[in-house]
Amino acid sequence: MFKYAALLAFVSVVTAQSQLYGQCGGIGWTGSTTCVAGATCTVLNDYYSQCLPGAASSSSTPTTVSSSHSTTTASSTGTSSAPTSTATPAAGNPFEGYTIYLSPYYANEIALAAGNITDSTLKAKAASIANIPTFTWLDTVAKVPDLGTYLADADSIQKSTGQKQLVQIVVYDLPDRDCAAKASNGEFSIADNGQANYFNYMDQIVAQIQKYPDVRVVAVIEPDSLANLVTNLNVQKCANAETTYKACVTYALKQLSSVGVYQYMDAGHAGWLGWPANISPAATLFTQMYQAGGSSPFIRGLATNVANYNALTAASPDPITQGNPNYDESHYINALAPMLASSGFPAQFIVDQGRSGVQNIRQQWGDWCNIKGAGFGTRPTTNTGNSYIDSIVWVKPGGECDGTSNSSSPRYDSTCSLSDADQPAPEAGTWFQEYFQTLVSKASPSL
Ligand SMILES: *[C@@H]1O[C@H](CO)[C@@H](O)[C@H](O)[C@H]1NC(C)=O
Ligand SMILES: *[C@@H]1O[C@H](CO)[C@@H](O)[C@H](O)[C@H]1NC(C)=O
Repeated sequence: MFKYAALLAFVSVVTAQSQLYGQCGGIGWTGSTTCVAGATCTVLNDYYSQCLPGAASSSSTPTTVSSSHSTTTASSTGTSSAPTSTATPAAGNPFEGYTIYLSPYYANEIALAAGNITDSTLKAKAASIANIPTFTWLDTVAKVPDLGTYLADADSIQKSTGQKQLVQIVVYDLPDRDCAAKASNGEFSIADNGQANYFNYMDQIVAQIQKYPDVRVVAVIEPDSLANLVTNLNVQKCANAETTYKACVTYALKQLSSVGVYQYMDAGHAGWLGWPANISPAATLFTQMYQAGGSSPFIRGLATNVANYNALTAASPDPITQGNPNYDESHYINALAPMLASSGFPAQFIVDQGRSGVQNIRQQWGDWCNIKGAGFGTRPTTNTGNSYIDSIVWVKPGGECDGTSNSSSPRYDSTCSLSDADQPAPEAGTWFQEYFQTLVSKASPSL
C-alpha cells in the first residue's frame, strides 16, 4: 500500500511544478511543463521530458544520455532510436576481475534475521549469508536513489582498496508487471501513463549510473516479462502488454547500454522456455530484442532460473521434468545458446542458484512460490564449468518472500497456497523468517 501512496504523492506534486527528476513534458503529458528552481525541463525523447539539475542555459543541461535522446523520433513501436554509446565494452566475461559489491539492505535483513535465531550454530550460518552477493531489485521508482547510494559506496571502496567493484541490479518495474500472475503486480499500469512512467524510472537509473563511471554495473532485465510474451499471450493482460513490454525493454536495453551496463535479459528457466515447443520461439524473441536494443555488446546475454529452484546440473532428472529433454539449466542453456548464436545473438548466460540447493521438492515444475524444503545453493562463482555461463549468481535474495498465502490480499496468487508452498507466507518481497531459516539449514553445499 505504501508504494501506491508514494506514487500518488509524486504525481500530485508534479502537477503543481515538476520536481527535480520529475516529468515535465512528452506526448500525452498533461502535467506541469515547468520545473522547480535549480532544474531545467530537458527533452529526453518524444515521450519524456525531465527536470534535470541546472539552470536554463544552453550549456547547463546536456549530459551524454539526454543530449543523445534529444534528436530522436518515434518509431512504430514507440521507442526512441539508439543513443550514441559513450561506453566501450571490455572483452570477455564482465564478472572476471571484479569484486561484487554486497548490498547493505540485504546485509541488514540478514543481521536482523540472524538476531532472531537462538541456536548458536544456525545463527552463525545465517549471519554468514551477509557475505554472499545478491542482486538489488529496483522494483519501484522510489528505490532508485538507493542505487546511487550503493554506487557511491562501491566507488569509495574501490578507491580505498584498489579492488574493482561490480554492482548487481535487477530492473523490474514494467507497467502491468507480472502479467500472468498476481503476486508481483507492480506500481505502474499501462492504462495510466505506464510507458512514460517506466521511461522516467529508467532515466533515473541511468542518471545514477552516469555519476559513477568507474563502477561496473551488471543488470538482469525484467524477470518473466519476455518469457510471458513467448507462452502467455493467451492471457489477456499479457496480450495487452506485449507492445508496451517490448517498447520498455528496448528502451532499457538502449539506455543501459549507453552508460556501459552489462545486461542479461531474463529468459525464464528450463521448465518454462526449455520445452521443445517453446525454445525456438523464445530464441526468436530474444534475438529480436537484442537487435531492437541496437545489438550492443553490452547486451551480454540472458539470465535463467531467476528466483526459481532448478538445478544447474541435476544428478538425475526430477520426475516433474518428464518429457522435457532440457531437464536442468545446463541442458536448457546448451540448447538455447547455439540457436541464439546462429540467429546473430552471441549470448552468454548467468544462472541463479540461490535457492537451488535441494532438488525434487516440487509437485509440479511450474510451482514457484516459497517451495517448502528449499536450501541455499551453489555460491556465486565464475568457475561455472560451462563456456556459455559467465557466472553462477544469486539473483533472488533468499529469505524475501515470493508471494503471500493470504487469500484476502489483493496480490494473492493461488500458487502460494499449493501443498508444496510454505505457509503462512507474507507479501512478496517482505522478510519470511521461517523460510530463511530453512534455506540456511538445508543449504547445499552446507554453510
Ligand atoms: C527480529 O526480527 C524483527 C523483524 O524483522 C526485527 O525487528 C528485530 O530487530 C529482530 N531481532 C533481532 C534481535 O535482531
Ligand atoms: C490478509 O489480507 C487482508 C486484506 O489485505 C488483511 O486485512 C488481513 O489482515 C490479512 N491477514 C493476515 C493473517 O495477514
